[in-house]
Amino acid sequence: MYDGSDRSAIAGEERKDGWGMDRITEEAIGYVRELFAGNADGHGFDHTLRVWRNAMLIAETEPECDREAVALTALLHDADDHKLFHTENDENARAFLKENLIPEEQADRICEAIDSVSFSRNRDRLPQTLEGKIVQDADRLDAIGAVGIARTFAYGGEHGRSLEASLQHFYDKLLLLKDRMNTETAKQLAEDRHRFLEAFLKELKDETEGGQPDGTHTGDPV
Ligand code: NI
Repeated sequence: MYDGSDRSAIAGEERKDGWGMDRITEEAIGYVRELFAGNADGHGFDHTLRVWRNAMLIAETEPECDREAVALTALLHDADDHKLFHTENDENARAFLKENLIPEEQADRICEAIDSVSFSRNRDRLPQTLEGKIVQDADRLDAIGAVGIARTFAYGGEHGRSLEASLQHFYDKLLLLKDRMNTETAKQLAEDRHRFLEAFLKELKDETEGGQPDGTHTGDPV
């Protein structure tokens, strides 16, 4: 796993993969890496990179989108997450955009997209821009599948939640995400991840309810 020690390692890896990472993207990765490094949570940076990768994957199939705006929205989407930072009005995101001479109009569009992506700040409001829709999909994809399961229990552990409370989160939120994707590509990507969630829940139920190898239940687990 990338440990943040060498920014160019990521750039090289991504270029090989054909992501065509440009300078501003590279700068943004460096910026959020430093931003999250000071945070006890520590998962923010990894999550941000995964969302960025998902977003660029979706962007490939959305020719109308502004790829630079997608990349910056993805990389900055949690830069002012209120669970992690005490900032207002996208202060961290705006500081980066200003420092890198992004025109104000473009910066406003990116910040509006960032605001529309956040689940906590914006329950169920549809992003107004295609770039916002793509990054919202990318963020939601990272909440389901194997990585979604890992994140749910990591978060639960950190916050002293019971197994049952973490499981409830699957029913309250995660299992609903598949039907809330904006783009066709994300809908397809979500199908596999959703099936994996269901398979996991079924297996967990079988194991915790004392299921037998032949599928019968004794109700008396050893
Ligand atoms: Ni996020």
